[in-house]
Amino acid sequence: MSNTAKALPLIIDCDPGQDDAIALMLAMASPEELNLLGICAVAGNVPLVLTEANARRIRDVSGRPEVAVFAGCPRPMVKILETAEYVHGKSGIDGAGLPDPSRPVEAAHAVDWLVDTLRHADAPITLATLGPLTNIAMAIVMAPDIVENIGQLVLMGGALSLGNITPAAEFNIYSDPHAAHIVFEAGLKLTMIGLDVTHQARATPERLEAIRAIGNPAATCVAGMLDFYGAQYIETFGEGAPLHDPCVIAYLLRPDLFTGQDMRVDIEISSPLTIGQTVCDVHARSGQAANANVLEKIDADGFFALLGERLALLPDTV
Ligand code: BDR
Ligand code: CA
Repeated sequence: MSNTAKALPLIIDCDPGQDDAIALMLAMASPEELNLLGICAVAGNVPLVLTEANARRIRDVSGRPEVAVFAGCPRPMVKILETAEYVHGKSGIDGAGLPDPSRPVEAAHAVDWLVDTLRHADAPITLATLGPLTNIAMAIVMAPDIVENIGQLVLMGGALSLGNITPAAEFNIYSDPHAAHIVFEAGLKLTMIGLDVTHQARATPERLEAIRAIGNPAATCVAGMLDFYGAQYIETFGEGAPLHDPCVIAYLLRPDLFTGQDMRVDIEISSPLTIGQTVCDVHARSGQAANANVLEKIDADGFFALLGERLALLPDTV
């Protein structure tokens, strides 16, 4: 697949994860709009050895063997690693039914590659982050000058009003709150897509069957993953798996599907009760300048139409 000259230079940092996997497919099915420079993996939903291999499996089923995959940090900056096999299964992408990846992971560490790529970029690069922010924070600590070449960072993480891993915190931010604190303090152009938005993007049975009916290997893989992942969600959050991470890619492709507002967001890093909370200053009480565009609403039907349209573009055979 070839990129057009106006495609957005993009790096995806992720911890696949079924919803990360679907986000990767959406990006790899959209080369006209997104020039995917590389995929970085981080420990999160499952250990790094699995997240990086899963990213390579998804690259294969998406028919994009040329996209480089880099392995990054195997644990958060300060906290211990707490994975989420109870949601994603032992592999992280249970239900996908994919073979082992065809090509090895790149030799360079993801953080070294991020620093090098951002330093030598001749145009600003967009970062899309779908997991704990460890790799990005490490890169910023190692090389603060890279911030000037990060055009924007769009993240799945946090929430205005609810948590999923604790009453106060969302998984990605909770997993490495110290990294999130560094990223939110870095002066980046940030867009935060939290649980308030992603819980509107639910794979209802009708939407899931529409994806299954596409019938190519990628869509069949998505349907299998959602069968598994959706079942884990029903007891706690009700029917229809929220497609958290694909919202980030959808925002890059179709920002008109979303609404939100600028506000100050601080990351709680010290309270045992609320560690990892994204403290959103909705009513501007702190007197501090906004540091994020916090999205609040998504046109879910428009989102699923986009996803279905793009999955249908992926290869019929792999
Ligand atoms: C986030 O945590 C993970 O379980 C998902 O992949 C998503 O990135 C949702 O809280
Ligand atoms: Ca994720």
